Amino acid sequence: MTRLVSLDSIDSGGVEALLDRAFGADRHLRTAYRVRRGTMPISPLSFAALDEEARLIGSIQSWPVALASDTGPLVPLVMVGPVAVEPAHQQAGIGRKLMHHMLDAADASALPGAEALMLIGDPEYYGRFFGFDSSRTGRWRMPGPFEPRRLLARGPAVPNCAGTLVPRLREAA
Ligand SMILES: CC(C)(COP(=O)(O)OP(=O)(O)OC[C@H]1O[C@@H](n2cnc3c(N)ncnc32)[C@H](O)[C@@H]1OP(=O)(O)O)[C@@H](O)C(=O)NCCC(=O)NCCS
Repeated sequence: MTRLVSLDSIDSGGVEALLDRAFGADRHLRTAYRVRRGTMPISPLSFAALDEEARLIGSIQSWPVALASDTGPLVPLVMVGPVAVEPAHQQAGIGRKLMHHMLDAADASALPGAEALMLIGDPEYYGRFFGFDSSRTGRWRMPGPFEPRRLLARGPAVPNCAGTLVPRLREAA
């Protein structure tokens, strides 16, 4: 039986090693890492999945970012991801369990950006199971290369305007 706990209760070295196995050690070069550089994970929206023997088999992190719109104020967003599942445990529903747990926590929270989630990921997964789409992200810019079809968002407060994704550096995580 998989159990979900706060990511804060897990050794960070174990989480980093899991992310290396799921995404490769060069993952830090990805554009998503540049967008959130300098921020800390949002603790109430970041979780670990443990197996029966309390071994780490999955994780999800969320980060404080914002859209610096070309014409208006900074709009707070929550960047979701990476979502990672230990390769030997993939395709068993753990990724979905982690995402649904985070989405429920976001729905119940009043944190800045909780009603405007975004991520970079496969629409075939994040659209199909969780309702993320690229319908409002077409004019967003990021500090690095990305495929527009993989820039996804979800929630009633997602801004549909031109702007650049930036970290929210001064907020408590
Ligand atoms: C992507 C990931 C988080 C999914 O978690 P998981 O626990 O393995 O997947 P789940 O059991 O929740 O969901 C399985 C279903 O999602 C589908 N799926 C999984 N990853 C997918 C992807 N990248 N694109 C499309 N569909 C995907 C599977 O085909 C399966 O569909 P089915 O039920 O119709 O057979 C996990 O596989 C992972 O960590 N992968 C390595 C990192 C990675 O590639 N991440 C890319 C995310 S953009």
